Amino acid sequence: MLVLGIETSCDETAVAVVNKNRKILSNVILTQIQEHKPYGGIVPELAARAHLKQLHFIIDEAMKKARINFTDITAIAATAGPGLIGGLLVGVTMAKAMASVHEKPFLAINHLAGHALIPRLTDRVKFPYLLLLTSGGHCQLLVVEGADSFNRIGTTKDDALGEVFDKVAKMLGLGIPGGPVVQKCAEAGNSSRFLLPRPMLGRTGCDFSFSGLKTAVRFLIEKFPANRLTSEDIADICASFQLAATEAVVDRTGHAIDICKKNYPRINRLVISGGVAANTKLRRCLKTLTAAKDFQFTAPPIDLCTDNAVMIAWAALEKLNKEQINNKNDDMSFKPRPRWPLSQKNQLI
Ligand code: KG4
Ligand code: ZN
Repeated sequence: MLVLGIETSCDETAVAVVNKNRKILSNVILTQIQEHKPYGGIVPELAARAHLKQLHFIIDEAMKKARINFTDITAIAATAGPGLIGGLLVGVTMAKAMASVHEKPFLAINHLAGHALIPRLTDRVKFPYLLLLTSGGHCQLLVVEGADSFNRIGTTKDDALGEVFDKVAKMLGLGIPGGPVVQKCAEAGNSSRFLLPRPMLGRTGCDFSFSGLKTAVRFLIEKFPANRLTSEDIADICASFQLAATEAVVDRTGHAIDICKKNYPRINRLVISGGVAANTKLRRCLKTLTAAKDFQFTAPPIDLCTDNAVMIAWAALEKLNKEQINNKNDDMSFKPRPRWPLSQKNQLI
C-alpha cells in the first residue's frame, strides 16, 4: 500500500509518498515564507495562488524522489480542512483530479488528525494516548483512542500558542515565522528578568488561555522608549515569554495527565505534535513533567511536528487500514472545510 499525500492548508506546499510499513519514500516541502514576509503574516490569497503555481512541480518532484509512477499508488490523499479555504481548494481539487484520471481512490484528510497520528509512524505509538496538539491555529489536549476517535479534554479559550509566538515576534520586529526566531533569541536571554503571567495556572480542568500573556508582553514592550530595545532586552523578553508560556502549558498538561490517570487508566503516554511542539524548551520541560508523573513521553522529529505531507499520507494509510476504501466509496464528493474539529466538545470522561 502506497499513498501520495498533499498538504496545502497554510503556507507550506508539501507532497509526500509513504508506504504502509512506515517508510517515507519522499517528503518535499516548499515554504512560502519569503512571499509573505513583507506583510508580516500569512496572506490567504497569496498563499492560495502560490500553492496553485507550485503544487504540480512539487508532486512531480515527490514522485521522482520516491521513484514511483501512478500505477504504484494505492490512493491519493489531501488535507481537506481545517485551514485557509483557498489553499485547501487547490490541494483537494488537484488530488481529486489526479485520482479521477488515474482511477485511484481519493481520501479527504483532517490536518489535525495528521498531526495527531504522525507519532504512530515515527515512534510506533499504540492507542490510546494523551496528545498535546499545539500549532499556529490550535492548542488542545486530546485523548486519542483510535485513528478516528478523539476526545478533546482541553482547548484554548482564546489564542493558539503558535499564534502568540508569532505575535510576540512581530511586536519585537523579528519577522515570520515567529516560533523559531523567538526560540533562537530566547537562548541568549535571561528568563527571570521579566515576570510575566502564567495563564490558568492551578485552575481545575486543562483548558488554556494565552491572550493575557500576549497583552502582558505588549505592555512590557511599550514601557521601553520607542526603538530603544537593545538586542539584550529582546533576548530577555523572548526568554521570559517562552518560560511563562512553557510553565502554563506544563501546568495544564500535568492536569491532563492526572485526569487520564483517573479516567483513562490504560493511558500511560503523553505525545506532542504540531508546530509549537518543535520548541526545544517546551519539549525539555514536558519530558521532565512526564518523568515526574511516571508517564512515557513521545515527541516526533521536529520536521514532522511542523506542517508536512508525510502526516497526511500516513493518516490516509491509517484510514485505509481501518476501512475498505475503493473508488466506489471514496471521498470524491467531500468539500474542503475551513473549520473541522477533531472532537466537538470538551469531555472529561
Ligand atoms: O503545525 P504548524 O506548522 O502549522 C499549523 O498547523 O498551524 O505550526 C506553525 C506554528 C507557528 O505559529 C510557528 O511560529 C510555531 O508553530 N512554531 C514554533 C516553533 N516552530 C514553529 N513555536 C515555538 N517554537 C518553535 N521552535
Ligand atoms: Zn499544522
